Amino acid sequence: MSSSPDQATAQAFASSWNNLPAGSVYTRAQFEDWMAPLTATDVKDRQVLELGCGNASLLLHCCAWRPARLVGVDLGASVDTARVNTAAYSFVEIVQADLVAYDAGGYDLVYCIGVLHHLKDPRRGFAAVLRNTRPAGQFHCWVYAREGNAIVIALVEPIRKFASRLPWWVTKYLIATPLVFPYFVYAKALSWLHQRFPQAAPRWLGWAPLREYSLWIAQRDFAFFRHVAFDQLVTPQTTYLSRAELEEWLSDADVEPGSGYVIQRNGNSWKFGGRRRSPSGATETAGKP
Ligand SMILES: C[S@@+](CC[C@H](N)C(=O)[O-])C[C@H]1O[C@@H](n2cnc3c(N)ncnc32)[C@H](O)[C@@H]1O
Repeated sequence: MSSSPDQATAQAFASSWNNLPAGSVYTRAQFEDWMAPLTATDVKDRQVLELGCGNASLLLHCCAWRPARLVGVDLGASVDTARVNTAAYSFVEIVQADLVAYDAGGYDLVYCIGVLHHLKDPRRGFAAVLRNTRPAGQFHCWVYAREGNAIVIALVEPIRKFASRLPWWVTKYLIATPLVFPYFVYAKALSWLHQRFPQAAPRWLGWAPLREYSLWIAQRDFAFFRHVAFDQLVTPQTTYLSRAELEEWLSDADVEPGSGYVIQRNGNSWKFGGRRRSPSGATETAGKP
């Protein structure tokens, strides 16, 4: 396990996931937003795999969509809390493994949310997503975008490179907490203005940095802002991926031609996915249990 080049990253994230209250850090609406265009019908009665599951915060919501089997893979010790969080679901299995090398094959749906951009080699992570999707099965990923993140790359990245070397509690309580407070005020103010002046605010504030993202995260409380800020600062590895790179990935010979999609989310990230190429032209339901 320690031979993985992502070991330090997984260890860093475990300090985040293993020091949270029980349950999911996300709301159901956040889960649905991350998964769209997939919906409950893409999961119900399917064999589903999440690569890089953290403490099972997404898995817990996915359980409500009633997959036949749901497997979560993570390299880090966050598998301990993931197992506790999902103990009530007999169809869930949590595996501690390097997703880049993981080769269980044959899942109807593989999703990988917020993970590929933290790998030393994101392209090899995407290869693992494809490899574990059965022919004609679906895959769905979410990554940080190069586009729309200029301010984050300029301001947060230099702090991350320094903060990720410190003890996790220093990063969380002495760096992320005070630094995120002004951003919390900014996002809440933007949100208030959009609610108070729904017609005019989008015109007045179209220039505001991270406007779309801020309106999304402003729906949550300070604890969630701090969790996101800590996640950004604790990791030793982050890559911002461009639309062009993802389109190139989707041109892989193993992706069904015409099935790929790249969707901008909150102005600063990408959801992308498609279907694995089927040699026989099998349909969406082929292999469905
Ligand atoms: C930002 S967290 C996202 C967790 C979850 N998908 C979510 O959205 O809540 C990234 C996760 O990827 C895991 N990870 C990083 N590199 C990995 C690897 N090579 N194999 C498996 N998991 C990995 C980390 O341990 C961490 O839990």
